Amino acid sequence: MYKDWESLKKDCSVCRKCGLCETRNNLVFGVGNEKAEVMFVGEGPGYNEDMQGEPFVGRGGQLLDKYLTHIGLDRHKNIYIANMVKCRPPENRDPSEEELNCCIDWLREQTRLIRPKIMVCLGRISAMRLISKDFRVTQQHGQFIEKGGILFMGTFHPAALLRNPNNKGLALEDFLALQEKIKKVCDHTYEV
Ligand code: URA
Repeated sequence: MYKDWESLKKDCSVCRKCGLCETRNNLVFGVGNEKAEVMFVGEGPGYNEDMQGEPFVGRGGQLLDKYLTHIGLDRHKNIYIANMVKCRPPENRDPSEEELNCCIDWLREQTRLIRPKIMVCLGRISAMRLISKDFRVTQQHGQFIEKGGILFMGTFHPAALLRNPNNKGLALEDFLALQEKIKKVCDHTYEV
């Protein structure tokens, strides 16, 4: 169990627990406010993230930033963004069960230090792992579920929205529902 970010980041940065370390250019630890009340969790780095060492910096990330801005959130100010796996799976394939298992402790430690009130799962990979193993994004997106003192919500993965723009309206509704929830349960995300 880590007590400070420095040692957590240091140990994570040299992680060789699974084979993804062999092909990574950069480990993508996370970005944002380490005291955030709201945390977003994606799947794993893609090409751009692996090159830059920051989550969601490609086209999907630009779309995510649009939704965030729309509800007054900013990756550098009042939220934290991380992924289920910290290193890019080759060819952008889904991370394997083994890779997810190897990496989950890093996310656990991040969550322990941040102590978010709300966690938003971006896409099915994180929702199936963090909310319920049979989570269906198309049916359960936008619903808040309390688990261990944290409110979880799953929504569409930005890359899935780029592939299927028909769901962009539903995603917007999820972000608006998130905004309302933040206003109810968070103290400093929207400074008054
Ligand atoms: N997709 C993800 O799930 N995470 C990223 O950081 C980038 C793309």
